[in-house]
Order: sequence, then C-alpha cells, then structure tokens
Amino acid sequence: MMNPPKKLFIETLGCAMNVRDSEHMIAELSMKENYELTTKMNEADLILINTCSVREKPVQKLFSEIGVFNKKKKEGAKIGVCGCTASHLGKEIIKRAPAVDFVLGARNVSKITEVLHKKGAVEIDIDYDESAFAFSDFRSSQRKAMVNISIGCDKQCTFCIVPNTRGVEIAIPANLIVQEAKKAAQNGAKEIFLLGQNVNNYKHEGVDFPDLLELVSQIDEVERIRFTSPHPLHMDDKFLEVFAANPKICKSMHMPLQSGSTRLLKEMKRGYTKEWFLNRAKKLRDMVPDVHISTDIIVGFPGESDEDFEETMDVINQVRFEQIFSFKYSPRPETKAAEFTNVVDASVASERLTCVQARQDELLDEIAQASMDKVYEVYFEELRNNGGVAGRADNSFMVQVEGSDELLGLTKKVRITNPRRKVLYGEVID
Ligand code: SAH
Ligand code: F3S
Repeated sequence: MMNPPKKLFIETLGCAMNVRDSEHMIAELSMKENYELTTKMNEADLILINTCSVREKPVQKLFSEIGVFNKKKKEGAKIGVCGCTASHLGKEIIKRAPAVDFVLGARNVSKITEVLHKKGAVEIDIDYDESAFAFSDFRSSQRKAMVNISIGCDKQCTFCIVPNTRGVEIAIPANLIVQEAKKAAQNGAKEIFLLGQNVNNYKHEGVDFPDLLELVSQIDEVERIRFTSPHPLHMDDKFLEVFAANPKICKSMHMPLQSGSTRLLKEMKRGYTKEWFLNRAKKLRDMVPDVHISTDIIVGFPGESDEDFEETMDVINQVRFEQIFSFKYSPRPETKAAEFTNVVDASVASERLTCVQARQDELLDEIAQASMDKVYEVYFEELRNNGGVAGRADNSFMVQVEGSDELLGLTKKVRITNPRRKVLYGEVID
C-alpha cells in the first residue's frame, strides 16, 4: 500500500515570480515526493518559506518567523528557506538559524526534491540555468495561469538587489512559452499572465515581446493576456501599438516610474528621462482611452531633494495613475546605491511617502467617480467575504456584483453603479 501523503506548508512572500516559483516547488514535491498542501503549519512535515529581499523589512521578519515555526512545528518537520533572501544570504541563514534544514535560491527551485534530502544543503548558484527545466504541473488557480517568459534581470538599477538574487536575464524559448500557455488554456485558464523582471526586453531567436504577445494571442482558448513587469525604457512604438490593437491583451500597463526627477533617474540608472516617461504615458492614454496605468515609486532615494520630489509629484499629477505602489528607499547589500552617502532623513522620506499616498487617494476618488455608469467586461474569479462575486475588468479595476458561484469563471458585462476607491460595485447587464 502507498504511504499516506506527507504535508507541505508553504509561505510565499514578494512578487508574482515567487508565486510561480512556489507553484513549481509544490508541483515537484507532490509529483515526486508525495506531498500535499496544508494551510496548518503545525501539521506539516515540510515548511517552506519563499522569501523576498527587495526591501529590508521582510528579511528581518524572516528570522523571527523561523523562530516561531521552529517552536510550533511538528516533531521532525523540516524547514527550508527559498527565494531571493536564500540567494543573497546563503549559508548565513543556517548560521543564524540552525533550525533551517536547507537553503534554496530563487534560481534553483528545480532542485527542491534534491535539497530536501540533504540536511544543511545550500543551493544558490545564480548562474544556474533552469529556463528549460520541465517542471511538474501545479496551478493554484484553474482560471488564470502564470507563465514565465524570462528569468533574471540585466538592468542593474542602482537600488535593486534582484540582479544579485535572480542572476542575469535569460529568455525562455518562445515555443516553450506558447506550449505552456496552450496547455494551461486548454485546462481552463482563459487568462494567461506572462512573467519576467523585464518582459518587454524579451528577445529569443528573433522573437521580441510584441511578437510573443501576438503568438500567445493566437491560441484559441486564451481570452485574456496580462504581463508583468514591463520597463518604461523599452516601451517603444511597436510594443504600444500591439498592446493597443490586440483585443486579447488586457488594457492594464505597469509603468514603474521610481522617480520623476531625471537627475535621480540617472543616479538610479533607469535609462529614461521624465520627458520620455511622460511621452510614453501620454501616447498610451491617447491610443487606449480606458487604459489602467499602475506604477512603482521610491521616495527618499539618496540625494532626493525637495525639487526632485516635486518632479515625482508632477508626474503623478500629469499621468493620474490608477494605482501606485509606493516605497521608502531601503538600502540593499551589494547594490551601488547602498554606497551613496547623501542619505535622506528617515522622517523626510516618511513625509514624502504620506504625501504620495494622500495625493493618490484624492486622485483615486476622482478616477473611481469617472467610472460611474461605464460598462466593463469582467472575468469573475472570486467570492467575497461580504457576499458578492468579484473579478477584474479588462483594464484591471476590481469589480464586484451581487451573485454567487454561478458567475465564477464567466466573463460578463457589468455597469458600474457605485464606484469606490478600491472596488467598483456594479450590476451584470449581459
Ligand atoms: N523589475 C521588477 C522590479 C522588482 S522590484 C518590476 O518592475 O516589478 C519591485 C519594486 O520594488 C521596484 O519597482 C521598486 O519600486 C521597489 N524597490 C526595489 N528595490 C528597492 C529598494 N532598495 N528600496 C525600496 N524600494 C525598492
Ligand atoms: Fe530591479 Fe531594475 Fe531589474 S528594478 S529587477 S534591476 S529592472
């Protein structure tokens, strides 16, 4: 008789790439080692923490968390630390927290079933190429599927640790991407979410990112395509034109600004100016009237003056982003900016963060109001605690209607009747 399945508890921090890496590890462990998922840490035989290191806070949290897990875990359960913090701290992790059984870097997740059996294993080679590794299959959602198109990043933005944890950029061959998207779509995932640190820099044997978007859109079963993250520098006309013209591409664009000051953008090594960014955003809004533009903003980068910050606010006011992820600069080990000495006072950075968020709330109220009575195509995927059913409009707004399971997995036209900052409430009309 087969042994009963062992139990796996996995905590995933950070970005969509980590979410996909977790799916890969779950797949490998369930197919090859007979694990099944549990949401209860204290009944798990294996505890995995898939970490993020992009800012310092989550790293500090990791060690306190390992302590808690170690106290409460089942006798004999193993603890593994995976992901970006694993890549950059490596064996330090086991030194600081001997309760950890193994450390597995963000670019080594295919080795999960190997390290599992090696107490003290540290696999963190950032040159390791697992781009063509045939992972077993596991998807946390049947309705939408994440598909990696590249791994790593070549950009070396001076504040960012990612190139040190995920290594150089490698493009996955287009035929493998299309094959995976097709398989997921045929299993019911109408929405394909293409993933990479820098998706619009994609190039493989003459196929660039706009070409890849077209190829994925030719799969009959695919209804919607999303992607993250593009880089403003590579938003050339060809990319914007395909984005605007292809009806399967959701009209939601992430444009990580970081700063509105051309001087600071140079210090950050972002490769574009304030004017280029504004020009691309304007072109996008002209071409796609209902486009949803989200962004990332860092305040308090070394040397950020009041004037630099005003430039950021100016871009916020001109572009009127539908969503802003804003962060206080956090110096990261082995990055160029960590050596900069013109540090911004923590209280000034906090004030600036508050200022960005307060202005964004005002803008969001106006943006939400403007969607009153509009009709959106919504792909329903989630039952909400407060009753209704929610999903994303084509352009990414979260829309909620009254109803229940029968709407899940369907795409419906919804008229917005009560727009709020984070959720637009409405009614199904078709
Ligand atoms: N290419 C990825 C970048 C990943 S990091 C992407 O575009 O999504 C995600 C965001 O975290 C960055 O856009 C940046 O705004 C923020 N970030 C990165 N390093 C940071 C740091 N040292 N301090 C504060 N925020 C940072
Ligand atoms: Fe980081 Fe810049 Fe790459 S933000 S992930 S180095 S594009």
